[in-house]
Amino acid sequence: MRVLGIETSCDETGVALVDDGKIVASRLATQEVHSRWGGVVPEIASRLHQKTLTLMIEETLEGSGWSFSDLEGVAATRGPGLIGALLVGVSYAKGMAVAGNMPFRGVNHLEGHLWSPVAAGATLDLPAVAMIVSGGHTELIRVDGFSRYTFLGGTLDDAAGEAFDKVGSLLGIDYPAGAELSQLAEKGDPDRFSFPVPTTRDPRSFSFSGLKTAVLREIQALEREKTENWKMDVAASFQKAAIAQLSRRLECVLEDGAYKSVLLAGGVAANRMLRREAEAVARRFRVSLAVPPLELCTDNGAMIAFLGEKYLREKGGDPLDIEADPNLELTGDGA
Ligand code: KG4
Ligand code: ZN
Repeated sequence: MRVLGIETSCDETGVALVDDGKIVASRLATQEVHSRWGGVVPEIASRLHQKTLTLMIEETLEGSGWSFSDLEGVAATRGPGLIGALLVGVSYAKGMAVAGNMPFRGVNHLEGHLWSPVAAGATLDLPAVAMIVSGGHTELIRVDGFSRYTFLGGTLDDAAGEAFDKVGSLLGIDYPAGAELSQLAEKGDPDRFSFPVPTTRDPRSFSFSGLKTAVLREIQALEREKTENWKMDVAASFQKAAIAQLSRRLECVLEDGAYKSVLLAGGVAANRMLRREAEAVARRFRVSLAVPPLELCTDNGAMIAFLGEKYLREKGGDPLDIEADPNLELTGDGA
């Protein structure tokens, strides 16, 4: 089935084409303007999606030699995310579906991340434990198959990517700071500062706010006596603690021996240290590891087109009055 997918849940406009499970094209426009505000400004995000989307769709179709009439379905992220931003993609996709007399499917953004390694061609040994780590989410999910999920644990406060962004901002790095912070961390001494890896009542829960405060205190203490390389050492020590928390939670879930694989996805899955650690954990527990290529870690249209096509093929379209939902949850029977 030939499907066009649209992602507009936050600050990336993503458009992709999928044909029978194969990604044919994928384009992305990142809204750089938010960096000057230190985070995503919702109204600006909606307006820019609105401005960019038509041209991106035209270019994506043309670049692949496809025309509108080649499409057999349209999919768009319908949540979770910023409501104004979601509405742009959902409304556009519904309009295309009506104009082309084809089905529309709303896709859960988290579920899109979850299947992104498979969208890139990986096979998934089931049951799998998925760790989705992004700017808005830090979740452990048991995956028994397509549409079959059980929530295992999540963050009690900040998401992992949010912690990277907040600490990055303390170090003077523009939003989103994760990628640049991790490059800085590679040059620093991860053992110079000892930042906390918290224990939580449920060992599968996450908490990053204490870590962020500890980093802030350390930076304030350093203000008086800034020693050489302090920024890279803070970055490296923070990254070590943040990744240690993620891999400890993963180990805790794997300890019951119920899983055949680990699936890592979301923007923070682009982090090299996390990828290395996840590989080491998977090896220790003798399970396989599925991670998406870097371009499918952060938000993109390909994961939405891929999952949208799968749903359209197996379950058909959604009713056209289905709404965008900023708090859409990942339920056991899909979204
Ligand atoms: O999945 P994503 O694009 O958006 C959400 O759905 O939230 O994730 C974006 C997040 C940002 O917080 C960004 O700083 C973080 O992923 N990120 C990274 C890296 N690359 C992106 N965090 C740590 N290391 C990286 N290399
Ligand atoms: Zn995302």
